[in-house]
Amino acid sequence: MVAQSLILLLPALALAAIPVQDPSDVIKPMWWTKDNALLADYNIAMISTQPSDIEATHKYDDTSASVDHVAWSATANDTSVMLVANGAEFNGSSIDIKKSGYSTNLNTASFWGFNAAINVANASTAYFDNVNVTVHNGAAQIYSYGTDTVVHVNNTWLYSSGPVSHGLYASGNGTIVGRNIQVYSGGYRSSSFSGDSPGGNIYIYDSVAHSAGVGSATYYALGMIDAHNVVSVSEKGPVVFSDGAQTTSLTNCDATAGLLGGVVIFSSSVRSSGAELNLVNTKFTTIGKTMPGLWFGNIIATATLNQVELNTASGILVVANYSQVTQDFDYYADYEDNSSLSPAEVTLIVTESDLVGDLVAYNKSVISWILSDYSTWTGAAYSGYGEAYFDVALDATSDWTLTRDTTLQNFTDTLTTLSNIHSNGHNIHYNSTLNSWLGGKTVPLSGGGVAKPITSTSRVRRGVTVGRR
Ligand SMILES: *[C@@H]1O[C@H](CO)[C@@H](O)[C@H](O)[C@H]1NC(C)=O
Ligand SMILES: *[C@@H]1O[C@H](CO)[C@@H](O)[C@H](O)[C@H]1NC(C)=O
Ligand SMILES: *[C@@H]1O[C@H](CO)[C@@H](O)[C@H](O)[C@H]1NC(C)=O
Ligand SMILES: *[C@@H]1O[C@H](CO)[C@@H](O)[C@H](O)[C@H]1NC(C)=O
Ligand SMILES: *[C@@H]1O[C@H](CO)[C@@H](O)[C@H](O)[C@H]1NC(C)=O
Ligand SMILES: *[C@@H]1O[C@H](CO)[C@@H](O)[C@H](O)[C@H]1NC(C)=O
Ligand SMILES: *[C@@H]1O[C@H](CO)[C@@H](O)[C@H](O)[C@H]1NC(C)=O
Ligand SMILES: *[C@@H]1O[C@H](CO)[C@@H](O)[C@H](O)[C@H]1NC(C)=O
Ligand SMILES: *[C@@H]1O[C@H](CO)[C@@H](O)[C@H](O)[C@H]1NC(C)=O
Ligand SMILES: *[C@@H]1O[C@H](CO)[C@@H](O)[C@H](O)[C@H]1NC(C)=O
Ligand SMILES: *[C@@H]1O[C@H](CO)[C@@H](O)[C@H](O)[C@H]1NC(C)=O
Repeated sequence: MVAQSLILLLPALALAAIPVQDPSDVIKPMWWTKDNALLADYNIAMISTQPSDIEATHKYDDTSASVDHVAWSATANDTSVMLVANGAEFNGSSIDIKKSGYSTNLNTASFWGFNAAINVANASTAYFDNVNVTVHNGAAQIYSYGTDTVVHVNNTWLYSSGPVSHGLYASGNGTIVGRNIQVYSGGYRSSSFSGDSPGGNIYIYDSVAHSAGVGSATYYALGMIDAHNVVSVSEKGPVVFSDGAQTTSLTNCDATAGLLGGVVIFSSSVRSSGAELNLVNTKFTTIGKTMPGLWFGNIIATATLNQVELNTASGILVVANYSQVTQDFDYYADYEDNSSLSPAEVTLIVTESDLVGDLVAYNKSVISWILSDYSTWTGAAYSGYGEAYFDVALDATSDWTLTRDTTLQNFTDTLTTLSNIHSNGHNIHYNSTLNSWLGGKTVPLSGGGVAKPITSTSRVRRGVTVGRR
């Protein structure tokens, strides 16, 4: 893929698959084990207004400046190296930033950029080229805050140890555009590219990202993420976390995930509608034995997959669940964690892709699976728990090879003879109320199986065959 022209491929890391050269080849995570074991305290009160003071060793307030070949640092807690704020304009090249010192308040760090190595805020603009940001003890690296704040970052090296050390981090409607970035984070909850409430916009091109801690994704979507030509590994997180009605688009990306799922798209509060995932010419590899390629919980979402590869060790392409993730980010929560969840409803539109694996829906969740433009699917759909609903649509250029019996609600096939379905002896049970075009008939499929109306027997069997985990 495209990415291979950008980076050196090295022999396999423990994680396997697509290890790339990244800042952890230079500063070994094992030198910072204690830092990386630190947890952020998220059980603290929300701060509803912005505190007036942000500490920084270099401040640019409502001014313009151009700086090159400097080495700057900060060591105190809750103190940034640079603050560029209130309509300031800053151009920096060949800048070396060293930052240590702890963040003592997760909320001021997350929502206002306290302790970030570089904080650009309140309708300010910054252009950075050739910057090295190395942080320890937990600090965001480059933070963009506020409407009309735009930070451009080229040719930049970002290394962190410690918790909540997102690489490029945009909040309060801020924007960051990154090109040729190498980012590594070793700590808990430290995504490579992250938005935060109420949202931020991140555009990222030609980059390499490696996150190692629990809760650390390559992309944490709150707002908008648009990535092109990025090779990434999230050792203990998904490629994408997306909370609420956010949009994530990945084009020409090669991404490996080690925990939960390839994507984890959820609502942390009441179920939202309108989450979007767009994957183009992109490959996901999920390492964990039970990890699905794409996971959705407590959300109504749409995904488009064009020329996508989903390589899952689990054989599960998609999960839709009555679930979410908690602030620990390491397991799928259930009723006991939160009694006000809803099922997921997901529509996936697949084009020009060959996908192998299953669709699994839980507890009244819905997966609509639409294949067109020369797509192929080898797999089946089944319930993970309780009632589960699946729709399948095939156009004349796409085909489906079944790997077990599958029960469908809305079932459409442009080839009304169903000649693009290969049954391998398995059957499709369809809802005859919804699919009058089949006339309630039993239609033979190639390979010995049939498509036939759901009967009470097949219906009951569907509920019972698959129990709890
Ligand atoms: C950003 O603007 C808000 C609203 O005017 C203000 O409260 C805050 O102190 C400003 N931030 C900085 C870093 O100056
Ligand atoms: C920063 O760089 C931009 C783009 O090259 C330029 O338009 C602007 O004048 C520069 N600003 C300063 C303060 O140097
Ligand atoms: C900085 O924060 C750390 C970790 O919370 C704490 O142990 C240390 O005492 C703080 N330092 C100062 C000067 O407050
Ligand atoms: C970053 O790279 C882009 C694309 O090559 C270029 O247009 C832009 O001027 C560069 N910005 C800086 C700050 O170097
Ligand atoms: C960035 O700084 C760190 C810490 O000083 C250093 O180890 C690393 O080699 C630097 N990276 C680059 C690309 O210069
Ligand atoms: C973000 O955008 C929303 C909606 O336009 C606006 O209400 C809010 O004030 C903005 N926040 C900041 C920090 O600019
Ligand atoms: C439980 O979920 C509700 C809505 O789904 C949300 O508002 C609430 O914050 C969640 N509680 C916890 C403890 O996560
Ligand atoms: C599905 O959600 C249930 C809770 O409702 C949870 O126990 C289970 O682990 C989840 N499984 C997956 C694969 O999402
Ligand atoms: C299934 O959904 C119902 C609500 O419809 C909820 O009460 C129950 O706890 C859920 N069970 C699991 C295992 O998710
Ligand atoms: C059934 O699926 C087809 C193809 O995706 C779609 O056009 C149609 O609107 C669906 N019907 C219902 C009732 O959802
Ligand atoms: C068939 O679809 C109808 C209409 O959505 C629904 O009421 C019924 O429960 C479905 N039947 C089965 C067996 O799922």
